[in-house]
Amino acid sequence: MAKKIIRVLGIESSCDETSVSIVEKSNNKYKVLSNIVKSQTDIHKLYGGVVPELAARAHSDIIDKLIFLAFRKAKMKFDKIDAIASTAGPGLLGGLLVGVVAGKSLAHHLKKPFIAVNHLEGHAMSIKLENNLVYPYLLLLVSGGHTEFTLIERFNKYRRIGTTIDDALGEAFDKTARMLKLGYPGGPEIERYAKNGNQDRFKLPKPLIQEMNCHFSFSGLKSKIANIVAESKCNEKFKRDMSASFQKTINDIIRVKTTNAIEKCRELIKGEVKVVVAGGVAANKSIRHSLMAIEESEKCKFFFPSIKYCTDNGAMIALAGIERYEKNKINKLDFKPRPRWPLDKSAVFMKGKRAVEGSG
Ligand SMILES: Nc1ncnc2c1ncn2[C@@H]1O[C@H](COP(=O)(O)OP(=O)(O)OP(=O)(O)O)[C@@H](O)[C@H]1O
Ligand SMILES: [Mg+2]
Repeated sequence: MAKKIIRVLGIESSCDETSVSIVEKSNNKYKVLSNIVKSQTDIHKLYGGVVPELAARAHSDIIDKLIFLAFRKAKMKFDKIDAIASTAGPGLLGGLLVGVVAGKSLAHHLKKPFIAVNHLEGHAMSIKLENNLVYPYLLLLVSGGHTEFTLIERFNKYRRIGTTIDDALGEAFDKTARMLKLGYPGGPEIERYAKNGNQDRFKLPKPLIQEMNCHFSFSGLKSKIANIVAESKCNEKFKRDMSASFQKTINDIIRVKTTNAIEKCRELIKGEVKVVVAGGVAANKSIRHSLMAIEESEKCKFFFPSIKYCTDNGAMIALAGIERYEKNKINKLDFKPRPRWPLDKSAVFMKGKRAVEGSG
């Protein structure tokens, strides 16, 4: 498929952001022509978390308008795109259906190919929107639903080397924020409160820290915080100190586990290890600084997408769509959304401690 300029429309609706973007690839460089993001924060903040039914309705209310806006912002006619890519999983089924049906309908009407994109592949590729990074690289994906180390050997060849055995890191941020009665989404709130808090006031557990593997566990940490909160007066000082202690504990866990993952990576690939940190939690500046501090000692290089490409966005889906289009990985219009869809198909489903012990 030798074509100089490729333009793909990307549609994202797997959770609580509706986003539509047009990305162009020309001379091996990507250009984001438009990236419209509509967050549903105002809807879900009343409930302290995402309500799937409301999320699906909100995607459905706005998806057509965002598609028009994306074309208008890109100053492009509909028939000038080469393909339409929609997030088809993992995520909330109602939301996925909205984006997939919109993508399929447009593809059918315009007689263009439809491409079903794995949302996690979008996060894994998001760095390429701004950086011409070459494979292989180690992905640390830290988002609302996932926390994993995956070796990106090349496009479509993914090998997971570590994961969480319970909560995702974004979930740990959001649940802690909820216990502290901070706003929603919790991650940015914890980060804000932590800045003026005493990080040494609370000694919090660091589950699995002693184990020389690349797996995470956050549920014990969450329970400990719940116990402390239950016995304390949750005033502003308490909130700041707990946020700071939580942030420090997370930074320590991430640093140690990333060191283990880099070591594991050295057994698998040659040359300098490049680590890409992606997903919503990668927007956290404290985690970014804490990881950058080990670049020299670990002889590795960290890469972070811009904040706007860490949280969910259509641009990363369009980019993954371009890569798939170039490799002729087109899907039929009967493709069904997949609420569960691991990046590494051979990776074992890991929940609970036994899964970690059994994984080597
Ligand atoms: N500055 C921040 N610090 C910590 N966490 C953050 C920050 N900004 C966003 N987050 C967290 O990122 C998460 C959202 O990320 P993202 O949109 O990638 O998740 P998702 O799409 O819901 O899940 P997944 O990508 O696993 O399907 C939320 O849990 C949010 O609290
Ligand atoms: Mg996401």
